[in-house]
Amino acid sequence: MRALTYDPKSPQGLRAEEVSPPEPGASQALVEVHATSLNFGEVAFMSEIRRPGEIPGWDAAGIVVRAAADGSGPKEGARVAGFAPNAAWAELRAVRTADLGVLPDAVDFESAAALPAAGVSALRAVRALGPLVGRRVLITGASGGVGRFAVQLAHRAGAHVIAAVGNAARGEGLRELGADEVVTRLDQVTSPVFGVLDNVGGAMLAEALALVERGGSLQSIGQASREPSTVDFERERRRASGRRIDIFVVGSDFGSDIEYLASLVARRELDPQIGWRGDWERAGEAAAALLGRRVSGKAVLTLRKQPR
Ligand SMILES: NC(=O)c1ccc[n+]([C@@H]2O[C@H](COP(=O)([O-])OP(=O)(O)OC[C@H]3O[C@@H](n4cnc5c(N)ncnc54)[C@H](OP(=O)(O)O)[C@@H]3O)[C@@H](O)[C@H]2O)c1
Repeated sequence: MRALTYDPKSPQGLRAEEVSPPEPGASQALVEVHATSLNFGEVAFMSEIRRPGEIPGWDAAGIVVRAAADGSGPKEGARVAGFAPNAAWAELRAVRTADLGVLPDAVDFESAAALPAAGVSALRAVRALGPLVGRRVLITGASGGVGRFAVQLAHRAGAHVIAAVGNAARGEGLRELGADEVVTRLDQVTSPVFGVLDNVGGAMLAEALALVERGGSLQSIGQASREPSTVDFERERRRASGRRIDIFVVGSDFGSDIEYLASLVARRELDPQIGWRGDWERAGEAAAALLGRRVSGKAVLTLRKQPR
């Protein structure tokens, strides 16, 4: 089968080549991949998380061509999307059935491929904030993949959503998705917030934390700035601020959350916000656009065109 493998000497660290197909474990289904999407973490840190020759890729959508040997999960022919720590950027992929969600017919593979890592992270981070009806929520890096899902899901949960972006152009479309305010600097946020979903880290994390009211939290989802954060914990303690920082980790067992998000997409209640589309041979170009902050939302690659 054809796959993109990590090659530190190739442009963007990726090489297209023929490799052996995967041998699924007992609780894994074999999926024919139709579309995949890129995530900041897997692209920005590829040299740290991959060995040469490994097939990267977290998210993929496609068709089950062999059900799991232990009888779990979707049957042969099911349309699915899934998350796994590797090997999405290949024609065939083995995925734990607990991490596969079955797709409604109304959801195309490109939309579905956008959902696993970014959509489920946004969903679980919104849940981690607690009840949001009538509460103010600040989302940093709101222009990105996680951010655009988080804006929609926090709005859906009843929050007053403040979307923070790098500049006005990066904020385009966010009001239509449910943002009540779009800001380009955090000093534009003039009253406290109940929750923060922080995708950027660095100085912005400390600035955002200072806005959190008593009883609220900041979910540190990511550090797209790649800058460490300095928080004065002693000052927080003396002020008895009653706010907390959680180091958010998305976890595992993605299947049911992917199915929930796909059901929203099918009902047109969630937009996957695909900001870049192309053939999978253009993965390097997509990765450069993502790291260059030129993608609004998700970058999605098509492996197999599906007549629909
Ligand atoms: N904890 C977890 O389990 C988990 C799960 C998923 C993702 N993450 C992390 O969450 C973060 C967001 O992921 P994503 O997939 O949404 O990424 P993304 O699509 O690339 O979005 C990141 C956003 O951060 C902003 N940003 C600010 N400074 C930046 C910089 N120096 N370089 C790049 N972007 C910068 C950009 O917005 P502007 O251009 O508008 O400033 C960009 O839209 C990443 O750090 C990722 O690793 C963590």
